[in-house]
Amino acid sequence: MTTQAREQWRSRWGFVLAAIGSAVGLGNMWRFSYLTAEMGGAAFVGLYLVFTLLIGLPVMLAELTLGRGARAGPVAALGHYGGPAWRGLGVVFVAAGFLILSYYGVIGGWTLRYAAEAIWIGFPTDPGDHFGALASGWDSLATQVVFMGITIVIVAGGIGSGIERVARIAMPALFAIIVAIAVYAFTLEGSGAGYRYYLNFELRNALALDVVVAAAGQAFFSLSLGMGAILTFASYLPRESHLVRETFVISFSDFGVAFVAGLMVFPLIFALGMANEIEAGTIGALFVALPKAFLSMGPVGRLIGSAFFLALVVGALTSAISLLEVVVAATIDRFGWGRRRAAWISGLAVTGLGVWSAFDLRVLDLADSLAINLFLVGGGLGIAVFVGWIMADPVGEAAIGSRPSFWLEGWRFLLRFVVPVALVFVLWNSLPETWEKLRALLGS
Ligand code: TRP
Repeated sequence: MTTQAREQWRSRWGFVLAAIGSAVGLGNMWRFSYLTAEMGGAAFVGLYLVFTLLIGLPVMLAELTLGRGARAGPVAALGHYGGPAWRGLGVVFVAAGFLILSYYGVIGGWTLRYAAEAIWIGFPTDPGDHFGALASGWDSLATQVVFMGITIVIVAGGIGSGIERVARIAMPALFAIIVAIAVYAFTLEGSGAGYRYYLNFELRNALALDVVVAAAGQAFFSLSLGMGAILTFASYLPRESHLVRETFVISFSDFGVAFVAGLMVFPLIFALGMANEIEAGTIGALFVALPKAFLSMGPVGRLIGSAFFLALVVGALTSAISLLEVVVAATIDRFGWGRRRAAWISGLAVTGLGVWSAFDLRVLDLADSLAINLFLVGGGLGIAVFVGWIMADPVGEAAIGSRPSFWLEGWRFLLRFVVPVALVFVLWNSLPETWEKLRALLGS
């Protein structure tokens, strides 16, 4: 432990925007859109909302409570409330952050390249080949390194003067861009087919096991839960902050952005006749279908497309920042290093692991499945059990700064019974898919 005073957010909104920045990212736009397409529309969206409310909200409040109470990163926070044996769970969190950021940085690199090309060159006439060429190999590595470099510099700048400052500018800009594009898409002829596709509810899909599992994983990923990212951000909060209110503000903003992203992506794609591209539901779908759509729109498309990819970069960057901060905070707690040194050393290590994903998209896809299905869902289970059963007085701790309310007893009940049962179910049912991907990779 260092003797320096712990850093703090400069303002309530600084924290809230940084936390929303963590939550809102590629998960809301890229991952949400391709999963919605793959899983068949509104059934998936509805389940994702249900998981956000029933599991996301309680786990979010649990992470905020742990972080603000312990004023430390995940490893030290769990040790603080649970004793040395629980530090191990914190170590798993840091490992999850490491793994997620390794491939997240690769996709972040793609978005950076797309944004830069949209602004300075325009969209390619052969988006499929273009994506294939830049998504893996040396091109991919180069953009990953640039993206990670920017992330490291911001995290090295510190909580108030790095992360908070970026979030205060970036997040409002992102909101403005996606709302503007969604409104524009509404005016396009033929956009109705997009809304029908997006909002069409089929009960059969809502009952399918793979859709349920995907929706639960997506809720965790999108809210940045299950690996101590929100916990770490909360460790820089003053004691009197209102955690219950922040839980709702962060979670609903995150769901709202994903929902609006769907209102932007699907009408655009359908109005311009690119529907069959997105229905493939692969990790590249958005990066192929949308540029095609933008290209076919002429000069307006160039403008809208540039704004779109800029928003994607901003979202990816503020999320990557929070992932790196988990590793950095743990490193500072553990080794007593200065922030700058911790940021560069951990950032470069993560980038090194990501080289693998940059050169092989199957590794990227597997890392995504492993990280979300096992680490985040398992981590969420760990947090719910820990706060529900192990921590001495979670309700009292959470209530500080909020009005004490009997709802908090309901919160504890959810953490004790509902969340664990739901997550064990999800975890169990996700194993075959993850296993399949692992086998396919090893067998080739
Ligand atoms: N929530 C981010 C997104 O939707 C990704 C992310 C950032 C994340 N930090 C996280 C996911 C921590 C899990 C845990 O893109």
